[in-house]
Amino acid sequence: MSFPVTRMRRLRRTAALRSLVRETIVLPRHLVRPLFVVPGETTRREIGSLSGQYQLGVQQTVASAVKSAELGITSFLFFAIPEYKDEVGSASWSRNGLVQQALRAVRAELPHVTLIADLCFCEYTSHGHCGVLVDDCLDNDATLKNLGKQAVSLAEAGADIIAPSGMIDGMVGSIRSDLDSEGFSDTIIMSYAAKYASAFYGPFRDAVQSAPQSGDRSGYQMDPANAREALREVELDLEEGADMVMVKPALAYLDIISQVAALSTVPVVAYNVSGEYAMVKSAAAQGWIDGERVMGEMLTAMRRAGADVIITYFADEFSEGVRAGRW
Ligand code: PBG
Repeated sequence: MSFPVTRMRRLRRTAALRSLVRETIVLPRHLVRPLFVVPGETTRREIGSLSGQYQLGVQQTVASAVKSAELGITSFLFFAIPEYKDEVGSASWSRNGLVQQALRAVRAELPHVTLIADLCFCEYTSHGHCGVLVDDCLDNDATLKNLGKQAVSLAEAGADIIAPSGMIDGMVGSIRSDLDSEGFSDTIIMSYAAKYASAFYGPFRDAVQSAPQSGDRSGYQMDPANAREALREVELDLEEGADMVMVKPALAYLDIISQVAALSTVPVVAYNVSGEYAMVKSAAAQGWIDGERVMGEMLTAMRRAGADVIITYFADEFSEGVRAGRW
């Protein structure tokens, strides 16, 4: 039956009807808030390229996480700018590393939230690459050993989820066996399975000072032109025991999220990265777009594409909107 009997606009006539038939929902509990931990307990410094996001000392990190939790955010992802960097990034597996300290401190205040630790070396190495560098090339297998040390240290400090983000071959299987042999068989692995070599990470590298000193990451991160390869990455990570798989970035990769969601037998995560956030913030500051509506549209699109979970710098702002009844 078609027009005039069928009228698609019938279901769009009132806000109540529209919300009755809405297919995709975004709630604070679907969102993960990233946190950047820096030295100095009480430091609180806004990140120039990420307005509304801060580098926080451990004490400030706790205070800020408590506020998010009051808004309904239940998961946090930790990054740090360490006190020192070296060739291999050894600060990342120090028992008293900043992420380790922050994990313990947040856990003490918020026993029931989910704490996720990003597992990578680019913030910790003097050269800014994601592992051990040999002749200007990332040594895959030497990096695996160090990833295991960092993963165990983070699990010991209380991370519920370890999120390896370096696109190192075999990382999931290797981390799984290192965690299991140290007694952390319940620690979840959220793999950055399909992570693209993207210019959308610009503001993040600024936030954690992790831009490579020379070269770029296209030798290990994926070519934005490839979709089939993402499915292969996901397949391998699932075989190696990944508990969750991620696609990153999100906005320019909704097709990948959708294909991964169709294939994956575990929850799918999208990372709404720093550049995506910064674009919205800067255009909104100019009055060129309605930033809040664009935020909602983007997060909805990611969920519609198939993401179960979204890591996003909008976590607090979106949740405030939910509380105010705007979503
Ligand atoms: C690597 C890592 C990066 C991001 C998250 N984990 C940066 C990179 O690969 O260069 C980027 C996140 C963002 O842009 O918001 N540790």
